[in-house]
Amino acid sequence: MDIEKILKEKLEIIEKAMDHYLPKEKNYQDIIFESMRYSIFAGGKRLRPILMMAACEFVNGDIDDVIPFACAMEMIHCYSLIHDDLPAMDDDDYRRGKLTNHKVYGDAIAILAGDGLLNYAYELMIKSSLDKNENNKKIIAMNEIASSAGIHGMIGGQVADLISENKSIDEKTLDFIHKNKTGALIISSIRTGAILGGATEKELNALSEYATNIGLGFQITDDILDIIGDEEKIGKKVGSDIQNNKATYPVLYGLDESMKKVQDLFNQSVESLKSFGQKSDFFINLADYLVKRDY
Ligand code: IPE
Ligand code: IPE
Ligand code: MG
Ligand code: MG
Ligand code: MG
Repeated sequence: MDIEKILKEKLEIIEKAMDHYLPKEKNYQDIIFESMRYSIFAGGKRLRPILMMAACEFVNGDIDDVIPFACAMEMIHCYSLIHDDLPAMDDDDYRRGKLTNHKVYGDAIAILAGDGLLNYAYELMIKSSLDKNENNKKIIAMNEIASSAGIHGMIGGQVADLISENKSIDEKTLDFIHKNKTGALIISSIRTGAILGGATEKELNALSEYATNIGLGFQITDDILDIIGDEEKIGKKVGSDIQNNKATYPVLYGLDESMKKVQDLFNQSVESLKSFGQKSDFFINLADYLVKRDY
């Protein structure tokens, strides 16, 4: 399987859809449209929307049902990055290989662009739920995305991440931070793709287990790349976590142990989908691809 080719095809679908959905009209507030588009189109792997589309295909669902939700997820993710980079949070100057949003538009517009993307995500999902008569599945999916993005998900994790700066923290706290700040959106990406596609309970459980493991593995790799990554490839400054005294896996367990943990998590993720045979090829190849990630 040519995983890179498949990822590129899915990414292009998302880019196109996002361009279609994001406002670009001229009006008094058009600076915010420009700022939202700046960060959305600054690049990015589009991992979460790709996961959502793949999960829908896994259960033989209709991909058109998923596209607005996949774009909404990327908007939520992108807002979390704009705010994550602000001086009051991680105070970073580069993201996706470009200046961070607040460095270009100033703090006030960056805050509003983040808020704008967050709200627009829900506008898009609600609008799409009104289009057709299958409201139930879509409302369940919306609920998953909303709660994974909120105070019991990504925002909750970001709060724990911030208040843990300059503190020595235990394994349980670190697990909470990573599973929430990053794992939550990855899990709901896969779960909502499957739900919208009409998953059985067995499929949904297996995909959820897969998602939980790759979600944690993904953030541990992010921590590792913050130390040994190549700035050109990761598109952001190396050493941001050390500078901010962040709670990370390498701080608590060391680099070698963190790398081993990533490998274990990805092995476990593959295990959860093995019994589905060929149709899990994409997710199995993806796990292998993400273990080797250097960007
Ligand atoms: C970066 O996410 C922040 C984390 C939650 C680890 P990604 O590594 O998916 O960033 P993009 O979307 O590709 O820029
Ligand atoms: C970010 O974690 C998690 C979210 C934005 C929700 P990091 O602060 O480690 O992400 P990077 O390294 O800046 O991309
Ligand atoms: Mg952060
Ligand atoms: Mg950061
Ligand atoms: Mg990081």
